[in-house]
Amino acid sequence: MQTVTLNNGVEMPILGFGVFQIPGEQTERAVADALAAGYRLLDTAAAYGNEEAVGQAVRSSGIPREELFVTTKLWVQDGPAQENTKRAFETSLAKLGLEYLDLYLMHQPFGDVYAQWRAMEDLHRQGLTRAIGVANFYPDRLLDLIINNEVTPAVNQIETHPFFQRTADQELMREHGVQIQSWGGFAEGKNDIFTHPVLSGIGKTHGKSVAQVVLRWLTQRDVVAIPKSVRPERMAENIDVFDFALTDDQMAAIATLDTGTSLFFDHHDPAMVNWLSARRLES
Ligand SMILES: NC(=O)c1ccc[n+]([C@@H]2O[C@H](COP(=O)([O-])OP(=O)(O)OC[C@H]3O[C@@H](n4cnc5c(N)ncnc54)[C@H](OP(=O)(O)O)[C@@H]3O)[C@@H](O)[C@H]2O)c1
Repeated sequence: MQTVTLNNGVEMPILGFGVFQIPGEQTERAVADALAAGYRLLDTAAAYGNEEAVGQAVRSSGIPREELFVTTKLWVQDGPAQENTKRAFETSLAKLGLEYLDLYLMHQPFGDVYAQWRAMEDLHRQGLTRAIGVANFYPDRLLDLIINNEVTPAVNQIETHPFFQRTADQELMREHGVQIQSWGGFAEGKNDIFTHPVLSGIGKTHGKSVAQVVLRWLTQRDVVAIPKSVRPERMAENIDVFDFALTDDQMAAIATLDTGTSLFFDHHDPAMVNWLSARRLES
């Protein structure tokens, strides 16, 4: 598996497996199937409610811990954020049954972000997580966090797919040494992506599916991708993207699909800030 090198030297697979919206009772099977298909990067979150099942599948797999790259995410904390962040981390680590994480991400740019980030810096310094990063940070918030803290996020996991390509955001991240990671690489199927004429036309020239074209397009742009599927045949399809390359013309054709806006939600919309901030997890 191809890797990217994060700003602290840690190597991360360029393609992994996401488990958002997989119910707890299905997650162990799905992760076991993904590991059998060859995935080594697993992406979960406290908010997904399936960390225990991910941990169970990891343990049952017998794969040496150092061959895996496990990410989980901190949900928005209230109260004394520094203390609560450490407690939330311990809860996630215990649920996963791991001794350390490879990547711990702040899931949303909300709450007492600075206290949360400083607690994450401490966890990193203690060797409890090999890298720390953020998710859903737009360039303004990301830059502010970088300027005013010691550790620059290793990763920013953001909505990135053919209809919202984030090329300018990626450029800013590149300038500051932050690795872009795509969530919702298939736009969760929106805009009929899997039958899109431009993407399927390109796929036909390579004997590849739309899903494979999208994952190839992301990884060819040096974007780390974490497609989700509960079906073993799709897991195998989604990891089989390293034996072909898109031409410059094909990359240019995909570039025309960018709408420049989210298909999911706007983190600048006050109603969305309210909605995400109102959600609290028990830890
Ligand atoms: N940081 C954040 O705020 C955030 C937000 C969202 C997601 N994420 C992460 O990013 C990961 C990926 O995003 P996502 O799960 O939202 O959506 P996604 O990967 O864009 O799309 C998943 C959908 O595509 C289908 N699919 C997968 N492979 C396919 C294929 N080869 N052909 C046809 N359909 C296929 C899946 O169905 P089946 O399962 O039935 O195959 C599922 O409905 C998540 O699992 C999570 O780890 C992070």
